[in-house]
Amino acid sequence: MFSYRHAFHAGNHADVLKHSILVAMLRYMTQKDTALSVIDTHAGAGLYRLDGDQARTSGEAAAGIFSLLKDGQLPSASSGMGSLVDDYLAVLRGFNPAPKGGPTTGPVKLRNYPGSPLITERLLREQDRAHVFEVHPTDQRLLRGLVAQRDSRRIMTLRVADGFAGVRALLPPPSRRGLLVCDPSYEIKSDYGKVVDLLTEALTRFATGSVLIWHPIVARPEAHDLPRKLKNAAARAGKPWLYASLSTKSGQSNARGVPVGLSGSGVFVVNPPFVLAPALKESLPHLAKAMAQDEHAGFVLEQGR
Ligand SMILES: C[S@@+](CC[C@H](N)C(=O)[O-])C[C@H]1O[C@@H](n2cnc3c(N)ncnc32)[C@H](O)[C@@H]1O
Repeated sequence: MFSYRHAFHAGNHADVLKHSILVAMLRYMTQKDTALSVIDTHAGAGLYRLDGDQARTSGEAAAGIFSLLKDGQLPSASSGMGSLVDDYLAVLRGFNPAPKGGPTTGPVKLRNYPGSPLITERLLREQDRAHVFEVHPTDQRLLRGLVAQRDSRRIMTLRVADGFAGVRALLPPPSRRGLLVCDPSYEIKSDYGKVVDLLTEALTRFATGSVLIWHPIVARPEAHDLPRKLKNAAARAGKPWLYASLSTKSGQSNARGVPVGLSGSGVFVVNPPFVLAPALKESLPHLAKAMAQDEHAGFVLEQGR
């Protein structure tokens, strides 16, 4: 059984990068009236308490989302870090209502952190659909409860199945407009190869769809080779791609050579909306600076076809 639980990592630097890109893509893709389909192969539990035991134990959000905030408060005005960050923080605000009886317009304390399925649900419209996959018994139960409670069943279908395999039956979506989000935990080495196969197959079945793939930057050969393999897969299909990565510190290892903590991560996007590259160009330097833990912090932004 898998041991990965996203609750220990919610709001970390990887979530900040991945979710700010997800928000930017969904905001752009929901501007046209035509229905949009979102498929999320690895959903997680959907919503996380940043003041809960799991988040407090790991403290990862402190070095992630909280580094962007003043006094742990989500601002009501611009962050000064660009529209990508502003739009992402505005979505987080929607999950953190002002206390009853208090002012509704000022900064609000960040307590609840939404994962990819709830960010998606929040930004989709009634004509859109989301299919999300989750295999962990606890996380799928939590997500099922949220979906029922929020009455989002109409928009979102939760599938308790392997996202790598299950996605195939959903491509291409009936609406012919779609976003495939693939965010495995890479706990098992084979995830790296499966991600490349998934991208190749997605671009064969649904060449016009957009794809967002997250990956960790860790000291293992499969992780090192992944961006190059993803770029090659997109190039073979003749599709435009964008790659953004963010490092917060040097990749340290312990005395036995085992990497300590996640120092950085990357997001690979195929068929990116044209607004994404300029938005990242504006915001990535701010994100890298705000979440920097040592002088090795930095970012990469590349595009190709
Ligand atoms: C990194 S987390 C996902 C976080 C989520 N995408 C977000 O951004 O909020 C990876 C999740 O995938 C689940 N998982 C692992 N293998 C899976 C598989 N083959 N199919 C579907 N879900 C899987 C894990 O239980 C875990 O909850």
